Amino acid sequence: MCGIIGYVGDRECRDILFRGLRKLEYRGYDSAGISIVHEGGFKLLHSVGNLDNLEAVLPELGDGGTVGIAHTRWATHGRPSNENAHPHTDCTGKFAIVLNGIVENYLSLRAELRAEGHTFSSETDAEVVAHLIERAYKGSLRDAAVAAYRLMEGHFTYCAIAVDEPGVIVGIRKETPMVLGLSEGENFIASAIPAFLAETRTVIFPEDGDVVVVTRKGVEITDLDGTPVAREAQVVDWDEEAAEKAGYETFMLKEIHEQPTSLADTLSERVSSDGRVALDGLGLDPEAIRNVRQVIIVACGTSYHAGLVGKYALERWARMPVEVEVASEFRYRDPVIGPDCLCIAISQSGETADTLAAMRLARQAGAHVLAVTNIVGSQATREADGVLFTRAGLEIGVAATKTFLTQVLAMLMLSLYFADQRGHLTPAQVREYTEGLRHIPATLRDYLEDGAAAKVEGVAKKYAASRFFLCLGRNMSLPVALEGALKLKEISYIPTDAYAAGEMKHGPIALLEEGSPVLVVATDSRVYDKLISNVQEVRARGARVIAVGSEGNESLSQMADEILPVPRTDEMLAPLVAIVPLQLFAYYVAKHKGEKVDQPRNLAKTVTVE
Ligand code: G6P
Repeated sequence: MCGIIGYVGDRECRDILFRGLRKLEYRGYDSAGISIVHEGGFKLLHSVGNLDNLEAVLPELGDGGTVGIAHTRWATHGRPSNENAHPHTDCTGKFAIVLNGIVENYLSLRAELRAEGHTFSSETDAEVVAHLIERAYKGSLRDAAVAAYRLMEGHFTYCAIAVDEPGVIVGIRKETPMVLGLSEGENFIASAIPAFLAETRTVIFPEDGDVVVVTRKGVEITDLDGTPVAREAQVVDWDEEAAEKAGYETFMLKEIHEQPTSLADTLSERVSSDGRVALDGLGLDPEAIRNVRQVIIVACGTSYHAGLVGKYALERWARMPVEVEVASEFRYRDPVIGPDCLCIAISQSGETADTLAAMRLARQAGAHVLAVTNIVGSQATREADGVLFTRAGLEIGVAATKTFLTQVLAMLMLSLYFADQRGHLTPAQVREYTEGLRHIPATLRDYLEDGAAAKVEGVAKKYAASRFFLCLGRNMSLPVALEGALKLKEISYIPTDAYAAGEMKHGPIALLEEGSPVLVVATDSRVYDKLISNVQEVRARGARVIAVGSEGNESLSQMADEILPVPRTDEMLAPLVAIVPLQLFAYYVAKHKGEKVDQPRNLAKTVTVE
């Protein structure tokens, strides 16, 4: 969480830094700030709230200054305020820093520095870095930043600038993201590529413990002891337009409509000439795949729901025993992990702290770790034994949509691939399911182009004043119900529960009263009749049923108060279509409530804290 950008070059940097922050706003948006080296001092600006507020006061920075750092914050230590917004400075006003992550021992460091006479002006953990640098500085910002690093515990990336070294930014990373952008006569340091994508596509990903000195001439990367380390530059082919709304009212709506393309991209070149799924980069040869005895899927949030789909598919198709667990729980259990265990970590960002910790735990216990992620060069890709990339493109809306769908697809492809390798499906069955997957992007495109959004909006606006929703699903539709409920909670703030439909009678049914809206994911499946019995139980309590059903299902239409039809697919592929009306439903409920859909309160897209 939190976004950092730094610039060193010949151009005035105020607007460059601000534009960079705009592209990082998804990482946090409760306060922001900029610090620019200028005429023997710093120009500093902070504001509370999202970047519109910083933009409004930006002219106060005036002109001038070609070196600076900036930050957009997601509060961990200290509420959002001008004092707690980064950049932070030391007592002398000669050093400024921005930090992403957490300094776990900040209280003891703070006490020590206070005892030495340092004065703190914020409640943050980050401010200790500025004072540690002040204390250690003997003419080299690099050395002082390293001295500070050696005293700090936790996981963080920070950048520092000094009045006495006006052409330099020093950055150090530890288990949180940092990327460098290289250009002619100017260079960038940031939390993520979009921050400088409009300026350069040549990037370097430093590793943990790398110390980076950025000047207008280039970047020098050393280890903590000063020994140079070689990190290769790469050219990314990301599309800058991906970071624009392209005529849609929000990023989330745009990203929902991009899902057919994201699915097609994720499938591309992964189907062999004989029509079967072909995956590489997993770090597993056919024998290793046959020898896997246990699969553990770890993930957080939306990615966890994609993991649940993966469980059903791996068990049914590949006959592999699977556990799925939220990473923050898994990492503090004593899970039983053997060397024949495959751990699949799903994380769109590849940076979620809990998921990374769960990966490390599994790896130390001897498991083979496979990362399913959307971000090339992310921490998860460095720590895994193999990687399966989703190709959703850049997702800006904080509520995940297209990254979820591509994760579901990745898990289905992986399950088919394993089933094929382990001989649990015949080649003909694998071909049939693979063919089904290949049809999904076009099916979904037709569905969306056919006015799905407008139809769902018509239903959603009737329910925008609801005080509560219950979402129900069974079997493959349960993860869809859970994800639909998460979307509603994240962006509409309406309390929403999601349950296995058959379990409803053991509790949630007590919540139902006349008119309570209940969303049921009732696409065709082997448990359809069972699910319909649950729908009847809901109706018998006077609740209103909003059903996602396979198109043409007349009896469901008659039973439900509202019907959100989706194209017919095989039940194993149904999550790829059934979630879309629920994404749209959550979207339009939030919109009609007047909520800020792309930036829901209290959330951030990339959660790099525990
Ligand atoms: C945050 C985001 C969610 C996301 C979760 C896991 O909570 O707001 O949308 O599902 O993190 O993120 P990851 O990058 O690991 O998939």
